[in-house]
Amino acid sequence: MTSPRPELLAKLTPVLTKRWLSPDAWRIDTYEQLDGYQALRKALKSDPDDLIAFMKDSGHRGRGGAGFPVGMKWAFIPQNDGKPHYLVVNADEGEPGTCKDLPLMMNDPHALIEGMIIATWAIRSNKAFVYIRGEAIHAARRLRNAVEEAYAKGYLGKNILGSGHDLDIVIHSGAGAYICGEETALLDSLEGYRGQPRLRPPFPATHGVYGCPTVINNVGSIASVPHIVLNGGAWWKSLGSENSAGTMIYSLSGRVQNPGQYECGMGITLRELIELAGGMLPGHNLKFWTPGGSSTPMLTADHLDVPLDFDGVAKAGSILGTTATMIFSDRDCPVYATYRWLMFYTHESCGKCTPCREGNYWMTRTYRRILSGKGTHADLDTLLDTCDNLLGRSFCGLGDGATSSVTSSLQYFKQDYLDYIEGHRRPLLNEADLVGA
Ligand code: NAI
Ligand code: SF4
Repeated sequence: MTSPRPELLAKLTPVLTKRWLSPDAWRIDTYEQLDGYQALRKALKSDPDDLIAFMKDSGHRGRGGAGFPVGMKWAFIPQNDGKPHYLVVNADEGEPGTCKDLPLMMNDPHALIEGMIIATWAIRSNKAFVYIRGEAIHAARRLRNAVEEAYAKGYLGKNILGSGHDLDIVIHSGAGAYICGEETALLDSLEGYRGQPRLRPPFPATHGVYGCPTVINNVGSIASVPHIVLNGGAWWKSLGSENSAGTMIYSLSGRVQNPGQYECGMGITLRELIELAGGMLPGHNLKFWTPGGSSTPMLTADHLDVPLDFDGVAKAGSILGTTATMIFSDRDCPVYATYRWLMFYTHESCGKCTPCREGNYWMTRTYRRILSGKGTHADLDTLLDTCDNLLGRSFCGLGDGATSSVTSSLQYFKQDYLDYIEGHRRPLLNEADLVGA
């Protein structure tokens, strides 16, 4: 294992992760000793509209995958409309490879709660929800405990710190469906219906929970807010790159020596991240990787120096997404990886629209054929044709995202497909796997 160069170690910028190594930072007393709830005191002295303008100026963009400007989303909430407003935190992190929100909630739950109080003050909301993955029982328990602590200290409930702001927070556990991370399916699930996407527009900003104006932000987007309020928008901008303010938690998994969370200023490259992670595993050479989870097009060893920010990754033909950086080597097969992801999307498709429901099923069958050595050259055209019928024709992002690894693996690794089809490679699946294919 190689040690990272000192100048590279200096690129680690713990902001959201800065309390993770402090024992008990998840308890409110420790959190308060580590600057906790200071940003709230500052924010409650500001006018809500000024706070929204401040967030806009900070350049802070959403950390859930789409990178939508946070301040702009808050500004969409109509004022003086006589309706209740809501904040919903999307903690349904489910993208394969993504694992930044769970440790955030486990290690620093009060940062999320403090961010929520500030956000609700800005958008004039008195009720907020955290919609958390059903499987994340431990994180839900920790958040509930933190919410109780915050009530006991007067940070939640009526007249918070004498400001006149009231807020109640509900922690709502989902039931483990990936689609409920899609914001409108999440709303349906939260309201007690089967989680299926709604047509957008209207966006949740005007028609969200119970048809009322609602801001939906990711855990990381909201947990960043106290840091930005406390240190200023210019500071946040200075940590990142142009159009990508701040730090990002890059979740490295796969064939590196030290997989884990690496928080750095936006714009760091994969080459640098791999070095920070101690290098590739012995005997492994980078072959392909995802910048932001399985629904972002895979990139290759030729993209090691792409700046990992919103613009840099887009220019390279992919999406920054959730910065779930899954790293595969020359011992891994892009065809098989794509097949596994397609099985996931087929299983998680909610079935509402035909392109996604049928397309993913058909593509999975095709991959099974190819990986069993029964594929044909025509299958590759059929795969691209099916992707054409999903991309932009699916009802929500799940259908679009499912095509990413298919098209990108065919773009960069067509020979791997041909090796199975032309019999140069031993089939990875056998006849029994072909049942139904
Ligand atoms: P989007 O770009 O359609 O919307 C982003 C946000 O901006 C939404 O909250 C939307 O309501 C709001 N918005 C956009 N235009 C608006 C308008 N004109 N008026 C008001 N509000 C507006 O992206 P989407 O579909 O919400 O998210 C897709 C991303 O989610 C993907 O890029 C993917 O990386 C990520 N993702 C994350 C997962 C996770 O586990 N964190 C799982 C799956 C996908
Ligand atoms: Fe459901 Fe897939 Fe259609 Fe989205 S794209 S609505 S997940 S069937």
